Amino acid sequence: MKTNIITYGCQMNEYDTHLVKSELVSLGAEFVDTWQEADFVLVNTCAVRGKPVEKVRSLLGELRKEKEKRPLLVGMMGCLAQLEEGQQIARKFEVDVLLGPGALTEIGKAIESKHRFWDLSFREELTHHLPPAPQGALSAFVSIIRGCNHHCTYCIVPTTRGPEVSRHPDLILREIEQLKAAGVVEVTLLGQNVNSYGNDQPGFPRFGELLRMVGQMGIPRIKFTTSHPVNFTDDVIAAMAETPQVCNYIHLPVQSGSNRILRRMAREYRREWYLDRIRAIREAMPEVVLSTDIIVGFPGETEEDFQETLSLYDEVGYDSAYMFIYSPRPGTPSYKHFQDLPREVKVERLQRLIEKQKEWSYRQNQRWVGKTVEVLVRGAAKDESYAEGHTRGNHPTLVPAAQAPRPGLYQVVVKQATPHMLFGEVVGAEEAATIPLLMA
Ligand code: 5AD
Ligand code: SF4
Repeated sequence: MKTNIITYGCQMNEYDTHLVKSELVSLGAEFVDTWQEADFVLVNTCAVRGKPVEKVRSLLGELRKEKEKRPLLVGMMGCLAQLEEGQQIARKFEVDVLLGPGALTEIGKAIESKHRFWDLSFREELTHHLPPAPQGALSAFVSIIRGCNHHCTYCIVPTTRGPEVSRHPDLILREIEQLKAAGVVEVTLLGQNVNSYGNDQPGFPRFGELLRMVGQMGIPRIKFTTSHPVNFTDDVIAAMAETPQVCNYIHLPVQSGSNRILRRMAREYRREWYLDRIRAIREAMPEVVLSTDIIVGFPGETEEDFQETLSLYDEVGYDSAYMFIYSPRPGTPSYKHFQDLPREVKVERLQRLIEKQKEWSYRQNQRWVGKTVEVLVRGAAKDESYAEGHTRGNHPTLVPAAQAPRPGLYQVVVKQATPHMLFGEVVGAEEAATIPLLMA
């Protein structure tokens, strides 16, 4: 069957797409690049904000039209599939296969069944599932924990992905072993909240311990995402600082700098706690690269609250940030109980925040100019006279293509920096793959 999978949303979704893809490979599927060529189109959906939902809706609309012209099987998986909102969309657009984020292992049964196949259960098998290593990839994701036990009032994820379930450490280590054998040099440990790893299973290591275990496996670069500030404990910081393979990059979503708004969001920490975590992180890792998620225009956010977010940004001096306009999601407490702010207010605040982010990213990126950093080159950039890659600190980086003819790890002297990008010259290659450097 000619299959096309379209993935929206976060890295967890990318991982799930890989998982489903490998199941489909074993059933003899052949993958094509566009849905126009496919007999089976599977849409991996995101429900965290309104925009990705709109994208899915319009894609499914096109697919329904296509179904009138020729036989076509349409599937939907991911967070939106788990929600009543998604199921309504699926009914409207005549989706044949619907799998919630906990039911992905059912994909084989789904395409074999000649009827409509919907499954929204959370299945044990998923926790024990071991997807094969992707071919030819230098970077790979490994899921270590699924679900989220927090209840941030704006967030639909606890509903779509259920409570936290940690994967057995033996399985995680086996998956990483296979990735290493396949040539992967960078592994990103994934979860909605990786710092909670092991808390749900007596006898499992905690996240800090897991980091140390993974660090000993001979993979030069280890990253992880996403972290919750409440669970970012001193032992995680110590494990990072003492494990050279763990990259000096932390994504620590703050969401708001105002205690009043943090409380309304039910984030479970105060500004002071967050800043103390940043202080402890910087003390242990002075070269750390920090990024965050921020929501602007949460219901009830005043200009003063927003100023607190701007001032927190200045206090931390983030290297980069993902910034979102608050999007009321049906099924969340904030949708039910709070009045959304006018769009103009939200957009105007976002613009001011983006200005702040650009200033800081420019300033922070300048600190690498003149230094040697390790770049994982993926291949040619859009402008083919450059090769593109990223540093241990996740900075997108360009080097002259002739200096990095093959994908791999290179030592690069940074010559120039913009808010979004580092530019450098290669000074060494390959051996770096086995010698992790404590650089950017
Ligand atoms: N509106 C806007 N942004 C949201 N996020 C999660 N839910 C919403 C929402 N309803 C953002 C948060 C989270 C990131 C993955 O998406 O910042 O950290
Ligand atoms: Fe959503 Fe909060 Fe859980 Fe993150 S920690 S997935 S924002 S509920």
